[in-house]
Amino acid sequence: MGSLPFTTSDLHTSTGGFLSSPTLLCTPLMGTTVDQMLIEMHKAKEIGADIVEIRLDCLRNFNPNSDLQILIKQSPLPTLVTYRPVWEGGQYEGDETKRQDALRSAMELGANYIDIELEVAHEFNNSIYEKKPDNFKVIVSSHNFHNTPSAEAIGNLVARIQATGADIVKIATTALDITDCARIFQITVHSQVPTIGIVMGERGLISRLLSPKFGGYLTYGALEAGAISAPGQPTARDLLDLYNFRLIRPDTKVYGIIGKPVGHSKSPLLFNAAFKSVGLNAVYVHFLVDDVEKFFNTYSSVDFSGCSCTIPHKEAALKCMDEIDSIAKKIGAINNIVRKPDGRLVAFNTDYIGSISGIEDGLRGLNGAIPAGKSPLAGKLFVVLGAGGAGKSLVYGAAQKGARVVCANRTFERAKELADKVGGQAMTLEEVENFHPEEGMILANTTSVGMKPNVDDTPISKQALRHYCLVFDAIYTPKETRLLREAKETGAAVVYGTEMLIRQGFEQYKNFTGLPAPEELFRELMEKHA
Ligand code: ATR
Repeated sequence: MGSLPFTTSDLHTSTGGFLSSPTLLCTPLMGTTVDQMLIEMHKAKEIGADIVEIRLDCLRNFNPNSDLQILIKQSPLPTLVTYRPVWEGGQYEGDETKRQDALRSAMELGANYIDIELEVAHEFNNSIYEKKPDNFKVIVSSHNFHNTPSAEAIGNLVARIQATGADIVKIATTALDITDCARIFQITVHSQVPTIGIVMGERGLISRLLSPKFGGYLTYGALEAGAISAPGQPTARDLLDLYNFRLIRPDTKVYGIIGKPVGHSKSPLLFNAAFKSVGLNAVYVHFLVDDVEKFFNTYSSVDFSGCSCTIPHKEAALKCMDEIDSIAKKIGAINNIVRKPDGRLVAFNTDYIGSISGIEDGLRGLNGAIPAGKSPLAGKLFVVLGAGGAGKSLVYGAAQKGARVVCANRTFERAKELADKVGGQAMTLEEVENFHPEEGMILANTTSVGMKPNVDDTPISKQALRHYCLVFDAIYTPKETRLLREAKETGAAVVYGTEMLIRQGFEQYKNFTGLPAPEELFRELMEKHA
């Protein structure tokens, strides 16, 4: 797929200027009684929603004559009334005339919006022709619970919806891949009519988060995580507080973390808080990516300005880059990608910088002043346990700083191969037990030994730790591993895995923005949300 036109200039073309009205946040009410819905609408207002969607099909004993009046008149927010039939993914199974009658009553009682399904929209719109109150709008919706059709098919669908006399077009499709969202963005950006574009499912999340960027009329945010009205819907609170929904504009730069799974990542929390703290016009989202190459080919505009990269894409992403930092290339893994203004993708590995700088600072604390420009690692004997991805980062990072590197691994051959690359020494884990050519060595564990749930395990005996002045553990669950506890007991300085985690984040922030990282803010948030 070629480069899609997601640029600010496109938004200018479609609207003749920047969108004047920002995207609305609508919270669906899913209560089964009128009383529940009344409570929910007040909660929605408290959270900060702009509109509530009254889902009449959720009500158990719905009585249009009395209930509509109460719900519409007592709502503290503008109302969107939907009465979704089973044949369009809703819960209403009754008579179609009664359903449409209820929607017409809602309009007469002062509802601000009615959502009517494309299938019956002609008939419905004809029935209310010239009866529409001022400030009342009909949303004509189409839902596809299987996939997201081609751009051409979606274009035709939009035309059909417009032909019904819709005031607002709504298209909801299903994401089989995150790149499906791009076709919906193209629609909302270019549409002449106000358009709601939603791609359902967890792979469609960005269609909801980024709707203010791409000119969507409205997006849905659930009242609570367990009360979503469609798959993949974020909560209103997350939209507002985690993703800074109100700050997103057509020219907002998009960053994110690509991974699979990725929903657990706390990076959006850190970066969005950091962007907000300095007033940077940028947002950082979760990108659930299956195919890295397809992702970069699709979201290729400079508006997609960079990303963090986590498992399982750290190696696969390498081949999509235009330029790779020399150490990252040697390590063979990247975790930080920046798009330059000319569109080129440049990649880094900040994991090694995070751990190495943590260890350097730990040594500075021990040894006091080190001549400027000289690493406290220079000349030190540095033992790395493990030869996987993290092991490589530490081995190359330490070698670059002038340390004499020893790589020890359960599988000797892997240690040998890695050690040879930096002119270091290789050994098995057992051999480390009796390895002490000198005192004051540095130890870095990158094996998974000691990680939750096996917190009683440790990769090296306490006895052997006596010869080390500083011990680092890449494991951060738990924060204090048995290895670090025993290292402290033998008098060594320790550097926690959490330190690597946070410092790699500082580096990513610097690479993304060219600004110094708000270190205190990152630390506070990590502490609070770890
Ligand atoms: P990562 O990218 O996090 O470094 P990895 O590439 O899977 O993960 O590497 C895991 C490292 O932990 C390897 O060095 C592995 O040793 P092998 O090369 O012999 O597999 C090491 N490791 C994992 N489980 C271990 C165990 N129970 N005892 C010792 N080493 C272990």
